[in-house]
Amino acid sequence: MSAPGGGRVDPDVRSRGHWSGRLGFVLAASGSAIGLGNIWKFPYMTGENGGSAFVLVYLACIAVVGLPVMMAEILLGRRAQRNPARAMATLAHEARASKHWRLVGIAGIVAGAIILSYYSVVAGWMLDYLVRASTGSFGNIGAQDATRAFDGLLADGLRLSLWHTLFMLMTMVVVARGVHRGLEAANRALMPALVAILVLLLGYGVVEGDMARAVSFMFDADFSKLTPGVILAAMGQAFFTLSIGMGAMMAYGSYLRRDVSIAQTACYVAAADTAFAILAGLAVFAIVFGHGMASAAGPGLVMHTLPIAFGNMPGGTVIGFLFFVLIVFAAWTSAISIAEPGVSWCAEQTRLTRAQASVVIGGIIWLVGIAVALSFNAWKDFRLFGLGLFDAFDYLASNVMLPLGGLMIVAFAGWVLSSAHAREELRCGDRLFALWRSTVRYVSPVVIVLIFLSLTGVMST
Ligand code: PHE
Repeated sequence: MSAPGGGRVDPDVRSRGHWSGRLGFVLAASGSAIGLGNIWKFPYMTGENGGSAFVLVYLACIAVVGLPVMMAEILLGRRAQRNPARAMATLAHEARASKHWRLVGIAGIVAGAIILSYYSVVAGWMLDYLVRASTGSFGNIGAQDATRAFDGLLADGLRLSLWHTLFMLMTMVVVARGVHRGLEAANRALMPALVAILVLLLGYGVVEGDMARAVSFMFDADFSKLTPGVILAAMGQAFFTLSIGMGAMMAYGSYLRRDVSIAQTACYVAAADTAFAILAGLAVFAIVFGHGMASAAGPGLVMHTLPIAFGNMPGGTVIGFLFFVLIVFAAWTSAISIAEPGVSWCAEQTRLTRAQASVVIGGIIWLVGIAVALSFNAWKDFRLFGLGLFDAFDYLASNVMLPLGGLMIVAFAGWVLSSAHAREELRCGDRLFALWRSTVRYVSPVVIVLIFLSLTGVMST
């Protein structure tokens, strides 16, 4: 079990916490992957981008880019046993490459801060709706009132800020407790509950909703709606939903013991995440179509439409409450992983303890999040790249920073890291290894670059 850098194990590597085993890692990595991206973002992106065309490109991106990037990212983290910035520097040193590879880790930490700042605000919406659902305030609500309720929430900067503050506190408390007592314990408790609630909702969708229409909306191939913008959005969604391109999986991989096969576990995680997105999408659209609602409602889709469904169905108070508990749990286990690269970096590179690092990093992200919360109301007129702060952050992170980060990660894993080291970490058969290696060397980078280029082509015409 030699450590990179010539068999010398430095003390902070030896004292790192680790997942208790493969299951602990699979739960934590799935907890990271499954989140608002699956339950809130995937349905509205599908609705906005024309349904099946988006879904099919998204699935293709998961297979040819997402999964190989995920394997690469976890393997870099595990090999280095360090936070993402240090991991890249250490592995580059080991391979006698430029120390500037460190910047990939740093850029990931910045991307994480951007993502968590708005992710936490959206999770705050869900907390607000969780309380509303549990008090039965959606009873018999109509379309107009549901829209008004959400607009009212967005207009209330203080309310948004308070929920965001609560969610950041929930997140940072877990992160501060560390890998074992915090991250793994939270995921072990929350992930099974998540699956149970999803199954319940799906059952409701089948019995009461329009599942047939949901299936055809999501899967009947209709490529007439395919544009470079839709393709980029699908790729961005693949990165976002798998938690790749910013170091979250690298950080989680760094707590993985050496005897676990990365190829196999990454497949489990990607499969769980994809299944969850598809099933959540089907449940949401079955309810949406079953109640004659619009599928292209944008980020407000879940917020506008589901209260109507919950307000009008038998047992809706309980189902509605469970649904928002589901989203909050899912968001929580993801938010923890978004903060992890920054916190582990801060704790390992400075004299701060993990708890202090959580306060510092959490504090910065919280502050940026307040700006996001206010961008819906008091600071509405502020524009970044012609978009509101919320949309600009989401676009920048999902469609630019994560794919670029992923590109650098596959480039490193395919061209800088030695083949022997990669094989040692992945632990899979020869054929699969050869397939992975050629995919990260040629296919994934080419696909990412082509998708970027197709978009610039459109913008310049
Ligand atoms: N994958 C998470 C989701 O789907 C979000 C996330 C993005 C988590 C980036 C970590 C890193 O909600």
